[in-house]
Amino acid sequence: MDLSTTYLGLDLPHPLMTGASPLVDRLDLVRRLEDAGTAAITMHSLFEEQILLERQARYDHFDAHAEGFAEALSFFPNPDDYNLGPEEYLEQIRRIKAMVEVPVIGSLNGATGAGWVDYAKLMQQAGADALELNIYLLATDPLETGASIEQRVVDIASAVKQAVTVPVAVKLSPFFSSVANLAYRLDEAGVDGLVLFNRFYQPDIDVETLDVAPRLQLSEPSELLMRVRWLAILSGRIRASLAATGGVHAGLDAVKAVMAGAHGVQLVSALLHHGPAHLTKVHDEMVRWMEDHEYDSLRQMQGSMSLLRCPDPAAFERGNYTRILQTWRV
Ligand SMILES: Cc1cc2nc3c(=O)[nH]c(=O)nc-3n(C[C@H](O)[C@H](O)[C@H](O)COP(=O)(O)O)c2cc1C
Repeated sequence: MDLSTTYLGLDLPHPLMTGASPLVDRLDLVRRLEDAGTAAITMHSLFEEQILLERQARYDHFDAHAEGFAEALSFFPNPDDYNLGPEEYLEQIRRIKAMVEVPVIGSLNGATGAGWVDYAKLMQQAGADALELNIYLLATDPLETGASIEQRVVDIASAVKQAVTVPVAVKLSPFFSSVANLAYRLDEAGVDGLVLFNRFYQPDIDVETLDVAPRLQLSEPSELLMRVRWLAILSGRIRASLAATGGVHAGLDAVKAVMAGAHGVQLVSALLHHGPAHLTKVHDEMVRWMEDHEYDSLRQMQGSMSLLRCPDPAAFERGNYTRILQTWRV
């Protein structure tokens, strides 16, 4: 079965790859991921706050804006609590590149893009084959418009794109009033891929201690459906590659993502839960399903469920919504 795909201009033997996660911190796990056949390895992110902290330590001065910055930093982990500091992060890319044959994707994560251009260049120099920008922000300022937030995302992506020669993907959140327009603008800005979507962890309230309790929960397969919807809407409408992240646990999940238009399919929760060898299982399930359904290649299936030929995707979505509501009988 020919599962080959092209993601971010990288020719891959199949679409299944390791998404950004702490799995890359241990070289033995990286080895096992390659043995399990991962098509690429995404590093966990280097966080903007780590870069800013390092700069602050290096120049050891505060300007007017830095006072607010120092207060904001108190919400973040201590520098030693991050899995890898900025220098160690670059070193880990070098180590992994020296160890594996598959492409390695560096990741930057933040809300403003501060310091990203420098580190994007350093990641490229360290050997990263591509970069993923995770622009993770919650729009809480009532005076900031959606348009200005979207402009910020486009500006960050454009600045990084212009600074490096390796392909650049943007990992987006689903919480924009027009995901389609933002995707179009990022595509126009020359971004090579979109990774749909970031998961937002919802902090809980501990009513006894009156603390806010951030809690990590791995994903559920049901989370894939929102990704499938947007892949299907964007597939064929933009030049950039598309990747699914969120809720891919089994071969059939990957089949759905590809049918909706994904060129790459990232797994994290399933690998954290079952171990790196789970990737082989998902791969084999996918092949078996495609054989049973008489496909010859992945490309034959890619985008086959896209909404490109649908004359009015918004009406189609609204039709589905109203139909679903009518299925409940009291
Ligand atoms: C423990 C853990 C660490 C993660 N670290 C990162 C990270 O550093 N950068 C990032 O962009 N995403 C990170 N993610 C998000 C994953 O890359 C992925 O997008 C998300 O978990 C949804 O995919 P899944 O359903 O396969 O888990 C992390 C997820 C988990 C569970």
